[in-house]
Amino acid sequence: MFETLPAPKLDAIIALMQAYAADPREGKIDLGVGVYRTEDGRTPVMAAVKAAEAQIVETQDSKSYLALAGDRAFLEQMEALLLGGAVPSERVAAVGTPGGTSAVRQICELVRTARPEAVIWVSAQTWPNHLPLIRAAGLNAQSYRYLDTQSGGLDRAGLFADLEHVSAGDVVLLHGCCHNPTGVDLAAQDWADMAALLERRGAVPFIDMAYQGFGEGLDADAGGLRHLAARLPEVLVAASCSKNFGLYRERVGIAMAIVAPDRRDTLAATLAGLNRQAFAFPPDHGGRVVSTILSDPSLRRSWQAELDAMRARVQDNRRALADALRAATGSDRFAGVGSAQGMFSILPLSPAEITALRDAHGVYVLGDGRANMAGLSSRNIMACAEAIRDVTR
Ligand SMILES: Cc1ncc(COP(=O)(O)O)c(C=O)c1O
Repeated sequence: MFETLPAPKLDAIIALMQAYAADPREGKIDLGVGVYRTEDGRTPVMAAVKAAEAQIVETQDSKSYLALAGDRAFLEQMEALLLGGAVPSERVAAVGTPGGTSAVRQICELVRTARPEAVIWVSAQTWPNHLPLIRAAGLNAQSYRYLDTQSGGLDRAGLFADLEHVSAGDVVLLHGCCHNPTGVDLAAQDWADMAALLERRGAVPFIDMAYQGFGEGLDADAGGLRHLAARLPEVLVAASCSKNFGLYRERVGIAMAIVAPDRRDTLAATLAGLNRQAFAFPPDHGGRVVSTILSDPSLRRSWQAELDAMRARVQDNRRALADALRAATGSDRFAGVGSAQGMFSILPLSPAEITALRDAHGVYVLGDGRANMAGLSSRNIMACAEAIRDVTR
């Protein structure tokens, strides 16, 4: 059966993780994989998560199956966290999923079930797993311009010009905040213009929200999503709790369709059916941790304070790297690093410069130049800036 099976190409992020792990050099710097890190390089369990887990161990008296959609309390708390009451609950159909990855996949499956000819429009720079997930669901993708490589900011004109080609019933995938990999987000006016364009073209936005809380704050980061949800008849959402709750390996996510109230039950049943055929019941433990934290005022305060501190650390690293790069290179070539949001930035480097950075200096960034600002620390920022100066002069 398997004689002709080709070996799959290793995912770029996983390949880089393996190369970093195998590198014996002392001062190597990992700016590759998208996880939060402390100053000393750890990805800790958040204090509120530890406390919620202790409560669950103490009080949980069954691990029997739940509903295909997962735990109701988790779905309700996540709806509030994401939508902040921007739309009535009668419009919201949602299911738990194993992480944000599965949420993206399940939304693609929903689109294929409803409208197999729909094209999913994806920003030219995007999370490397978006296109494989879309194609695995049997859908076609098209790209729209996003990053202005000259300024390091948004290519606003290119973005809106490309989306004029969207057809009615197509789906436009947008990063809710902290765009991965560019760190370039839409401003309030861009979201308003996006809503107007999607309304005019009859297209459906699909918001991938993987970093809520890492940009400007929990509510501000959901501002674009809430604006679209309040204004448009149909909005799709995939959200992850991997980063903002630090629950990476527990696999906690939610897939959501915001629709007219009279379509809600059909969407909820369809999403539950899609769960049934993919993995049946979503994992419970991580979702229960999330709902325990969000429904307990003291745990919620602790979680939010820790998340605020994580956001501040990443922002400080970003500014410090931008300053160090300006000082080391004597140019504004890397100015975009300082103005971006969230964990990532694209370093404007050529493929040869990215390879030299890794081979000669042990600094690991992805092949498109994506660098995780959380991987920096006060001990390595100068070394990192000097390595970038050396490979670019
Ligand atoms: C844009 C984006 N979407 C979705 C995900 C999925 O996250 P997870 O499946 O780990 O929850 C990620 C993770 O890096 C991401 O960056």
